[in-house]
Amino acid sequence: MSLYANPTKSSPPSPYLPSACRIEEALRPTAKEKFFRLAPHDPHILNYSPGQFFMVGLPGYGEAPISITSGPDEGCIELCIRAVGNVTNAIHRLEKGDTLWVRGPFGRGFDVEGMAGKDLVFVAGGIGIAPMRSLVKAVIKRGGFGRLTLLYGAKGPEEILYGDEFEGWRAKGVDVRITIDRPSPGWKGYVGVVTTLIPPLDIDEGRTLAVVLGPPVLYKFVIWGLRHKGIKDDDMLLSLERRMKCGLGKCGHCQINCVYVCQEGPVFRLSELKGLPEAI
Ligand SMILES: Cc1cc2nc3c(=O)[nH]c(=O)nc-3n(C[C@H](O)[C@H](O)[C@H](O)COP(=O)(O)OP(=O)(O)OC[C@H]3O[C@@H](n4cnc5c(N)ncnc54)[C@H](O)[C@@H]3O)c2cc1C
Ligand code: FES
Repeated sequence: MSLYANPTKSSPPSPYLPSACRIEEALRPTAKEKFFRLAPHDPHILNYSPGQFFMVGLPGYGEAPISITSGPDEGCIELCIRAVGNVTNAIHRLEKGDTLWVRGPFGRGFDVEGMAGKDLVFVAGGIGIAPMRSLVKAVIKRGGFGRLTLLYGAKGPEEILYGDEFEGWRAKGVDVRITIDRPSPGWKGYVGVVTTLIPPLDIDEGRTLAVVLGPPVLYKFVIWGLRHKGIKDDDMLLSLERRMKCGLGKCGHCQINCVYVCQEGPVFRLSELKGLPEAI
């Protein structure tokens, strides 16, 4: 029996078996990150939502959970992978034409329909812009939202991801505000951590939904800032990062008390995390 999913079968692949994807594009936008556009042999795995993730791996190295950064219905899978360890460094050595193996999509993503008619405040820090890009694309495609403000913080101009797409988002009604952590020669935009962009916002707290995606260290400060603007915990959505192995609610690696982040998350309303102080 083959170890991997059979692309000729018409039924959805087993979530335990990786599907082969051809790398159609591999770009290195920064020193640490690499963008991949994948063409899966099995079209079933293209049925994903923003906020979901794939277990992405290579035989002999293992797998890592990686967020989807493409919008839904784009006919491909786009990923942004930061090289930090064994699996991600091995993936970084791949180029166009090579094969990457993925299982999924897994987890609960964002309810884009539920965002219709709302003002939206999206806050992304660092690589959090990768899953945020999928959400921004889905919301723009759906339309029917109120004001959409995207606050994005990067360490420096050289670490800004997807910078060439922001003008296009602005043209579609997104108020994109970018800040870098410390001054840099030639930078004329905001300077300071992303939380400094929250107080000046003009927010109608009754109709605003906030989404926070970024390194876990960011969450406490952003939540504090958004609460200060009157946004309720029920109207704040965030994605939790936990170490994952199966993605299927079986191994317990991602478990926080009785919550399996890989299945019930990674996207949660902040109000759902009450009683789980170690979640954030
Ligand atoms: C839902 C989800 C979505 C994600 N999306 C993305 C994404 O879009 N792009 C992306 O680049 N990354 C993403 N990540 C993070 C990525 O999965 C991890 O960085 C992953 O561990 C990398 O695997 P690795 O084998 O390369 O590195 P690892 O060997 O796992 O090491 C990664 C880092 O974690 C540290 N580490 C190793 N073991 C432990 C441990 N037991 N406890 C604590 N720290 C440890 C290492 O020192 C290193 O700094 C996501 C994670 C989750 C949960
Ligand atoms: S990753 Fe195995 S239970 Fe969540």
